[in-house]
Amino acid sequence: MAEEESGTLKPPMSITYRRGKLEDLQCFRFSEDLGIAAESIEFNVVGMSHEFWIAVEDKTILAITVLGRATSNEFTVMYLRVANSRKGDGIGSSLIRTILDTYSSSEISVVPFAGTEQFYERLGFKRTACWEMRRKPTGVD
Ligand SMILES: CC(C)(COP(=O)(O)OP(=O)(O)OC[C@H]1O[C@@H](n2cnc3c(N)ncnc32)[C@H](O)[C@@H]1OP(=O)(O)O)[C@@H](O)C(=O)NCCC(=O)NCCS
Repeated sequence: MAEEESGTLKPPMSITYRRGKLEDLQCFRFSEDLGIAAESIEFNVVGMSHEFWIAVEDKTILAITVLGRATSNEFTVMYLRVANSRKGDGIGSSLIRTILDTYSSSEISVVPFAGTEQFYERLGFKRTACWEMRRKPTGVD
């Protein structure tokens, strides 16, 4: 009997990209190789009034990024990590793109880890200072 007929073949899960909420930390689990704990997000992110954005699949957080508000019209990407087993699948790009679309009228800055500059360049960030890259608001060069 085909797997599909016996009901053992699961439909592919889709990945959701969105801003994380405090409740998510109780409902979802972090992918084991993401190397992060809910408690640290609760205290170091939510407790500091930063935002966190997540990529979720089947109640598992596959990637997380932390956004700090620098000014009323500027955010800083303070942290970005994709689970080791899911790197290179477009998840990091999709998560950042979701933020860029949501905050299209804001400037977004990042101090990229060495080697990740190209990743940010592809998302529209440009080097503005020695260590820093920025994505200007939509329509601004
Ligand atoms: C960097 C990171 C966020 C990228 O996320 P991802 O989901 O693996 O990336 P995507 O699949 O969306 O895009 C991958 C592309 O970015 C490029 N890239 C640039 N730097 C990279 C890096 N250090 N690791 C992986 N990909 C990188 C790849 O070459 C790839 O291009 P390709 O599709 O032509 O091969 C992820 O690898 C990660 O968590 N790395 C460890 C932590 C880190 O460096 N965070 C950045 C902090 S500023």
